[in-house]
Amino acid sequence: MDKERIRELARAALEARKRAYAPYSRYTVGAALLDDEGKIYLGVNVENASYGASNCAERTAFFGAVGAGARGFAAIAIAGGMEGSDPVDYAYPCGICRQVMREFCGEDFLVIAAKSESDYQAFPLRELLPHGFGGGNIC
Ligand code: THU
Repeated sequence: MDKERIRELARAALEARKRAYAPYSRYTVGAALLDDEGKIYLGVNVENASYGASNCAERTAFFGAVGAGARGFAAIAIAGGMEGSDPVDYAYPCGICRQVMREFCGEDFLVIAAKSESDYQAFPLRELLPHGFGGGNIC
């Protein structure tokens, strides 16, 4: 994926992050998910007083995209950090979000953890979820 596209996704994730709802952890996350047709879907973490009802930014993006009819995906950029501060670390997806990626994405799906537009790390899903479980296992 070309650098300009990655920068665009990182920028979108950083912008989305401003709209996170995280009054409990104060850790705000934004995600920008690129589908195979070039459309970008945004997501933020949405927390709940009943903590287990909270949703990660990545899954918010995926569920919105799938609900809108998207099925094939190319990449996701993620930006996370404490509310009111720029990201200090690269925010990698949690295990549940990796599993959701596994449901809808191929092994080349690119996961971009961004601190800024120009400071990011990118890995294909195969490296973040090796030996994953998928629909092909149930038959
Ligand atoms: N969070 C995400 O949005 N994505 C991840 O991959 C890891 C964690 C959120 C969930 C919760 O609202 C906050 O970060 C602290 O765990």
